[in-house]
Amino acid sequence: MKYIVAIIQPGRLAAVHEALVAIGIEGLTTSEVQGYGRQKGKTEVYRGTEYTVNFLPKVKIEIAVPGDIAEKACDAIKSAAETGKIGDGKVFVLDLDSALRIRTGEIGVAAL
Ligand SMILES: Nc1ncnc2c1ncn2[C@@H]1O[C@H](COP(=O)(O)OP(=O)(O)OP(=O)(O)O)[C@@H](O)[C@H]1O
Ligand SMILES: [Mg+2]
Repeated sequence: MKYIVAIIQPGRLAAVHEALVAIGIEGLTTSEVQGYGRQKGKTEVYRGTEYTVNFLPKVKIEIAVPGDIAEKACDAIKSAAETGKIGDGKVFVLDLDSALRIRTGEIGVAAL
């Protein structure tokens, strides 16, 4: 199993959600977060200016998926989240050791 953490532009959440549902993802978690990447929150960079760190609003999406679905899920996120502009976000993929559905006690892929 893999745990996918995607940081995207808030305005792309609906499209990414739709794309994930379309490939059969049955559960996900989202949260409103703030962050910055290489541009340190600046959308324009001028030579010689001193950078000030500005946290920009982003949406974090977290999904636990069977290992063989991870690549498909990342592709779906990329396609739906991409505007081609700086700040489109990142996708991180982590190994997931275990999962448990509390109601039934199911574990592993059956718990997803
Ligand atoms: N190394 C990182 N670790 C954790 N979160 C990150 C990291 N880099 C970026 N993020 C998160 O992703 C968001 C979007 O980052 P962003 O797309 O601007 O990255 P970038 O490397 O600057 O790429 P780009 O050049 O396309 O802007 C950030 O606001 C931050 O929340
Ligand atoms: Mg950036």
